[in-house]
Amino acid sequence: MVEARHLSISILLLFFILKSASTMETLEGLKHALKPIRIVPKEGDEKGMVVKRHDQEDHQPLSPMACLFHEPDCNLYVIAMIGSKTRIDPDVVKANLVHSLLKHPRFFSLQVMEEEKGGEMKWVPTKVNLEKHVIVPDMCSDMETSSDKYVEDYICNLTKTTLDFSKPLWDLHLLNVKTSDAEAVAVFRIHHSLGDGTSLMSLLLACTRKASDPTALPSVPMMKKPKSSAGSGKWWKAFRLVWNTIIDVLMVIATVLFLKDRDTPLRGPPNVGSTGRRIIHRTISLEDVVMIKNAMSTTVNDVMVGITQAGLSRYLNRRYAEGKKNKGATEKKNNLPKNLSIRATHFINIRPSAGIHTLAEMMEKGSEAKWGNWIGYVLLPLSIALRDNPLDYIQKAKEAMDRKKASLEALYIHSMAKSIPNLFGTKTGSVLCLKVPSRTTIWFSNVVGPQEEIAFFGHPIAYIAPSCFGQPNALMIHVVSYVDKMNIILSVDESTVPDPHQLFDDLEESFNLIKNVVMARD
Ligand SMILES: *[C@@H]1O[C@H](CO)[C@@H](O)[C@H](O)[C@H]1NC(C)=O
Ligand SMILES: *[C@@H]1O[C@H](CO)[C@@H](O)[C@H](O)[C@H]1NC(C)=O
Repeated sequence: MVEARHLSISILLLFFILKSASTMETLEGLKHALKPIRIVPKEGDEKGMVVKRHDQEDHQPLSPMACLFHEPDCNLYVIAMIGSKTRIDPDVVKANLVHSLLKHPRFFSLQVMEEEKGGEMKWVPTKVNLEKHVIVPDMCSDMETSSDKYVEDYICNLTKTTLDFSKPLWDLHLLNVKTSDAEAVAVFRIHHSLGDGTSLMSLLLACTRKASDPTALPSVPMMKKPKSSAGSGKWWKAFRLVWNTIIDVLMVIATVLFLKDRDTPLRGPPNVGSTGRRIIHRTISLEDVVMIKNAMSTTVNDVMVGITQAGLSRYLNRRYAEGKKNKGATEKKNNLPKNLSIRATHFINIRPSAGIHTLAEMMEKGSEAKWGNWIGYVLLPLSIALRDNPLDYIQKAKEAMDRKKASLEALYIHSMAKSIPNLFGTKTGSVLCLKVPSRTTIWFSNVVGPQEEIAFFGHPIAYIAPSCFGQPNALMIHVVSYVDKMNIILSVDESTVPDPHQLFDDLEESFNLIKNVVMARD
């Protein structure tokens, strides 16, 4: 059924296409074209996105984006697992939280609905009782399952419950249990209305210091400025940018109206957002990823998308083989149906830069920093097939990503997602932020982590593994770099992907095949 609000969004999107076509002449080179669209919020134009000094206790309304995460089918949470190389001292963590996280207004404010103002949600500062936010479960010494499984189950249980609205919407679980890759694990659970992945990651990093220098903030690689395109190809590039944007926005409109990925073993049931999730992670060598990147002259992100395509192809082929085992199908043969259409919602960080220094400064001095939910994504068709040359997966990923880079899709999504709730209300706003991504099969996000070892309130960190739960989608993949490792985190609905460790094996095996071809070639 085509609903009126879907149509209105379509018309609005079309309007924006026409507007962009009429401002053709302002398109100066590829990325310079991004300038006409304001993405830097002004103070007051969207109050929720600007963090006020915490002594100004006016009750700010939640930004429309933050409200979105209170819609019944969009109760999204961020889970961040931090592996520690030492046992975690809960008292040290609590004492330090007071001077860091608790200086951030979102972490000491309740989200209160004001009935007399038509149910508008406001941030209302409150006094935080840390005992209720920092949870240290008793570990029974004779654990029945392995400790890795224990942590997995613990997080799985966390995803089955939600936070209580009578407190600020975050908690921290300190699990002093030795796992295969850490001595202890800290698990943050944060409601998505507090901020998006990048701002929460920046905030988390602002709570850490370099392991080598306990006074220095970690350094995170800045996003490279795109080279400004010179001379002759300029007009062609500008034309291509507008043309690609039109095609991409039309695809988004089609997705709003009717287009959804076909059913495959990776598509979840309609209620997939409210089921428990299994969130697991595995690391591969970042050096090897960089080696593949250099050999294919592409980017780390493209390599990770390529590995994902390769691993998913293996995994799906296996699932289809299981589906028709009685007909003599084996995993060796190609069992993939010809009509597969699998897309990923690839989230893109559209902030000018992740300002961790600004955030650290803000926590120390109470200054302002950019904050909030800045969502942008592209709809990326994945090429799922069995290929003889493993490098073809990377090549396909590079082609698909290059095409998406020559398009303003992510910025459109962002500016639409920001303006539609203001114009048509939160329900309509959720169409772009939720309905469109839920019609794709996979959610994919890439977060650049620190380049050197860091410590979290004096605890050296072994790994950082952020993920999400509550999303209306059965499989979400995060890739996060940390020092010399690349961490892959899966958040799966267990009824859809009952064997996530098998999926990891397939991803790792694909990675090894690609790596071996590159090494043999050189
Ligand atoms: C998870 O929840 C189940 C059911 O309530 C419980 O039996 C199990 O012990 C919990 N696991 C962990 C690791 O907390
Ligand atoms: C895809 O093809 C398979 C047969 O290969 C068929 O059973 C299935 O219905 C098709 N799916 C769609 C959505 O067309």
